[in-house]
Amino acid sequence: MKLLVTGAAGFIGSTFVRIALEARPDDEVVVLDKLTYAGRRENLAEIEDRIEFHHGAIEDRGAVRGAMEGCDAVVNFAAESHVDRSIAGEEGFAITHVIGTTVLLETARALGVERYLQVSTDEVYGSIAEGTFTESSPLDPSSPYSATKAAGDLLVSAHAHTYGLDAVICRGSNNYGPRQYPEKLIPLSVLNALHDDFLPVYGDGRQVRNWLWVEDFARAIDLVLREGRRGEVYNVGGPDELENIDVVRRILASTGRDDSLIEYVRDRPGHDVRYSLSADKVRALGWEAQVHFYEGLGRTVDWYRENEWWWGPIRSGDYREYYERQYGRALAE
Ligand code: NAD
Ligand code: DAU
Repeated sequence: MKLLVTGAAGFIGSTFVRIALEARPDDEVVVLDKLTYAGRRENLAEIEDRIEFHHGAIEDRGAVRGAMEGCDAVVNFAAESHVDRSIAGEEGFAITHVIGTTVLLETARALGVERYLQVSTDEVYGSIAEGTFTESSPLDPSSPYSATKAAGDLLVSAHAHTYGLDAVICRGSNNYGPRQYPEKLIPLSVLNALHDDFLPVYGDGRQVRNWLWVEDFARAIDLVLREGRRGEVYNVGGPDELENIDVVRRILASTGRDDSLIEYVRDRPGHDVRYSLSADKVRALGWEAQVHFYEGLGRTVDWYRENEWWWGPIRSGDYREYYERQYGRALAE
């Protein structure tokens, strides 16, 4: 099989390509990535000689056609993935999620691609006070990030319905693990703790997230790509639900710091209080989460401790400006 994987220089896409090539060394992988601040060639370093890399955007028809020609399947990870940046009004969310997805779908149809998989998120369902979202829960996104992701999902369903495109959607809960850009709660907290800097907790810290080890999500996507029924949605909820404050406390304990580094800061506007996602349908295909939160968090902390070559350049680049805008203070040296 020859796969086009978009957004594969990011956190989850790069993990997926490694796992897919490990499972099927004879597959060919073409990558199309715009290399935004979150896209990093070094995420693909271990498999650089196994992939064909195209630098380009999914909203660029020429770039998409050039990368997709000859591919049997498309897996679309390309996204602006950070909720806070979408709330700050950054451009790119609608362009990538709506226009980019449209260009991918139309090109896939024009080229007769056999299979299309859209990587999506539990955030399209909105917040749930009790119980768990299933694939038939209504879409009720809250942020510009999740609203544009939901729009992308609806476009995928429309192309499956109207044109008979063989498409599937895989919605994951909060991923964590190595190579996650340190704007997200876990890598930001780990690096701040290692620098004895404050750990910013939005609001009261009682919001709940459903944590999913990134390799477990990548394996689920690989399975749905091959075994999922055309036109269907598959939710991939992680095995552990935790309040943010407990995640942060655990990170402090794992890095040998105490709770005095915790600082409660202004809440995220429109903050979703709780996510909870079922995994029954993907489990029926044979998937099972392999890593629980405390084990995965330990591995994540170890990875950040051992890979300053990866995060050092990020912390000395544009990230400093983002951090000052978001948290109103300078990043610790
Ligand atoms: P990320 O921000 O780490 O990576 C995004 C990648 O997409 C980067 O390599 C970036 O350069 C690339 N990209 C962005 N815009 C592009 C464009 N217009 N054209 C081509 N490439 C572009 O994101 P991630 O956390 O790895 O998320 C990957 C996907 O998984 C996204 O679709 C996201 O919505 C979804 N998802 C993420 C999570 C999570 O917890 N991180 C959970 C569920 C679903
Ligand atoms: O649920 C899946 C989603 O998970 C993905 O679709 C998104 O791409 C991904 O970014 C993630 O979104 P969240 O908004 O849940 O992740 P984030 O790490 O930004 O925040 C996790 C929780 O921690 C959330 O309740 C906000 C809170 N938070 C976050 C940051 C960055 C803090 O309290 N302090 C912080 O500094």
